[in-house]
Amino acid sequence: MMISRPKGTRDILPSDSYKWEYVEKVASNVLENYGYKEIRVPVFESTELFARGVGETTDVVQKEMYTFDDKGDRSITLRPEGTAGVVRAYLENGMGSLPSPIKLWYAMPMYRYENVQKGRYREFRQIGAELLGSGSYLADIETILMADQLIKAYNLNNVTLNINSIGCSTCRKEYQKALKEYINSKIECYCDTCKTRLEKNPMRILDCKEKSCKEANKNAPIILDYLCEECKTHFENVKKALTEAGIEYKIDPGIVRGLDYYSKTVFEFISEDENYTVLAGGRYDGLVQELGGAPTPAIGFAMGEDRLIEVYEKYNKGNVVEPKTPDIYLANIGEKAGLFITKLALELRKNNIFVETDISERSLNAQLKYANKTNAKNSIIIGDDEVESQKAKIKNMETGEEIEVDLNANSIIDKIKK
Ligand code: HAM
Repeated sequence: MMISRPKGTRDILPSDSYKWEYVEKVASNVLENYGYKEIRVPVFESTELFARGVGETTDVVQKEMYTFDDKGDRSITLRPEGTAGVVRAYLENGMGSLPSPIKLWYAMPMYRYENVQKGRYREFRQIGAELLGSGSYLADIETILMADQLIKAYNLNNVTLNINSIGCSTCRKEYQKALKEYINSKIECYCDTCKTRLEKNPMRILDCKEKSCKEANKNAPIILDYLCEECKTHFENVKKALTEAGIEYKIDPGIVRGLDYYSKTVFEFISEDENYTVLAGGRYDGLVQELGGAPTPAIGFAMGEDRLIEVYEKYNKGNVVEPKTPDIYLANIGEKAGLFITKLALELRKNNIFVETDISERSLNAQLKYANKTNAKNSIIIGDDEVESQKAKIKNMETGEEIEVDLNANSIIDKIKK
């Protein structure tokens, strides 16, 4: 019996993988122009990192982590998100002593035991960016402008930017009191998990995906009404600068984010047609300290690559990046020509030319059929006579035009480039 892939995972086949490569290349170009450098961190980390970093009462930690004991009895978790691991790496490698701010980007798979549906998988990929070491609203602005530039680089339509501020520990004290009172007044409407969250972390209840909880949350007090002076000024500055930069945004007081580390500015880019959040993030000024470092303000975001590619294809119909096709197919008639082609192909490939040849000892007819199927741009048929005279005809497979060419890499490259 064949074994199938685990639920919620996907095979990215060659017919699609080039799109992923394109998306990552565009992202690295945009991010590196803002000074971001790539970081790669482990797929698995100590469970404690996420329990502490992401938060014990979040859905991610309570319900969605792939956690297991390894053979040395350590509790290990497949990373459900990238920020905690990146901050751990930042601390463990002493990056705090490097010139600040530190800007890191990544493209990595993440793992969450989610209810699988369109755009929601158990293994999914994120392109993320983390900026550590600036608490200024200017860092928020640069980060949001960069995210906006990224979304626009994929030519996506109908994506809106939604922002909110979820304050800091100071403003949350008053807010949580009001929120608790509200929730208590209709506690019977909430799910059992939310009831356990009430004392520990009432704000988490605002992010519950249960229908009854969502309904009950509708008239809950909003944190924007409780911001302290510092958070209020920070948010005002962010809004003003976004307007000045000509970036359209909506304020959505309902954004609380699903991870505990956020403070102050949070944002989501939503594809309205699909009702997908394609990119989301925010400030996380307390996380570095929570994980054992010196107080270090930080901000970042992650883009869901799976969702992005789906939306990208929708809005770029007929204009989606194409997979590479061979520059030339070298067909052989006979063993002598076959050996000659092996050497010629090597020379061409060393010069960055995409070459296909016959490596299955097939008939000329079968070789030419294959050349057609692979959409080779040019072809040359080489037999004993051509090897002898060192001349052959190169055929432009699109126009059918044939011209004579010397059988060496330079002359062939010259003709191909024309
Ligand atoms: P997040 O909102 O949990 O944030 O995820 C960011 C994006 O990843 C989502 O907006 C969505 O596009 C994609 N995503 C999340 N879960 C899934 C899934 N199950 N299937 C497909 N795509 C998914 C974070 O992960 C934070 N670490 C972002 C961040 C970085 N904040 C600050 N720095």
